[in-house]
Amino acid sequence: MSSDLWRVVAVGSILAVSSACFGTTASDGAQTPAPDPADLAPVAAAGGAPVRGEAERHEAGLLAAREAAAALKIALKGRLVAAMQEQGPVGALHVCHDEAQALTARIAAEQGVKVGRASLRLRNPSNAAPVWVEPWLAAHGEGKAEGVPTDAEVVDTPDGAVARWIEPLPVGPVCLGCHGPTESLSSEVRAVLAEHYPEDRATGYAVGDLRGAVWAEAPVPNDARGPDVETPSAGG
Ligand code: HEC
Repeated sequence: MSSDLWRVVAVGSILAVSSACFGTTASDGAQTPAPDPADLAPVAAAGGAPVRGEAERHEAGLLAAREAAAALKIALKGRLVAAMQEQGPVGALHVCHDEAQALTARIAAEQGVKVGRASLRLRNPSNAAPVWVEPWLAAHGEGKAEGVPTDAEVVDTPDGAVARWIEPLPVGPVCLGCHGPTESLSSEVRAVLAEHYPEDRATGYAVGDLRGAVWAEAPVPNDARGPDVETPSAGG
């Protein structure tokens, strides 16, 4: 069974459920184009009864991955905007430095989903992409954000099926104070960056560039109807 087929079926259903949420994150620049629903219908219609259990499980995994990615974006953006308003770019820079990693770890732990941000030009080497995100970054990472698709698929791994989500992060005007051309950054921002991120490569961006991606990898739930499968424990 082709994983592309699952990808198309699952993404179609997810968009139907959650398209209202997409609009809330698109205010900072280019929007993420959704997969074309016209591509989805014939494949979805072809799904027979034995197939549906698996399709639903894949869909649940993709939904969990999408939600973790959205939670990370919203949490980081919320902190960033609040800190910029209260403390200006230098204060916000300290907030990003102190909180971004912990916030990411907390969302991953709470949701049971691996999640993070990545870029071809990293500020913090801890944000290095997982191996499976690298081809996406290599294909899109140095270009414009416009037209870069969100990627969603279910793949089999030695640890079981996982749902993977990669969503583009465009550079908007608010990003430039810390990711714009070096010569345009304030001397305070430059000083803080030099102190905390001696290997910083995440400057030189313009509005409309692709800055990187939010990625998430969620386990695909087991088929609860199977005889030998444990139901995941509520406590996690
Ligand atoms: C106030 C300064 C500031 C602003 C404004 C800012 N960032 Fe960042 N950004 C940072 C810092 C600091 C880090 C490193 C955080 C860490 O230590 O994980 C970072 C890291 C990132 C990363 C993770 C990859 C890497 O290079 O480590 C991405 C992606 C990113 N920023 C995108 C954006 C986008 C998109 C915007 C605009 C919506 C933005 N940033 C606005 C300071 C900022």
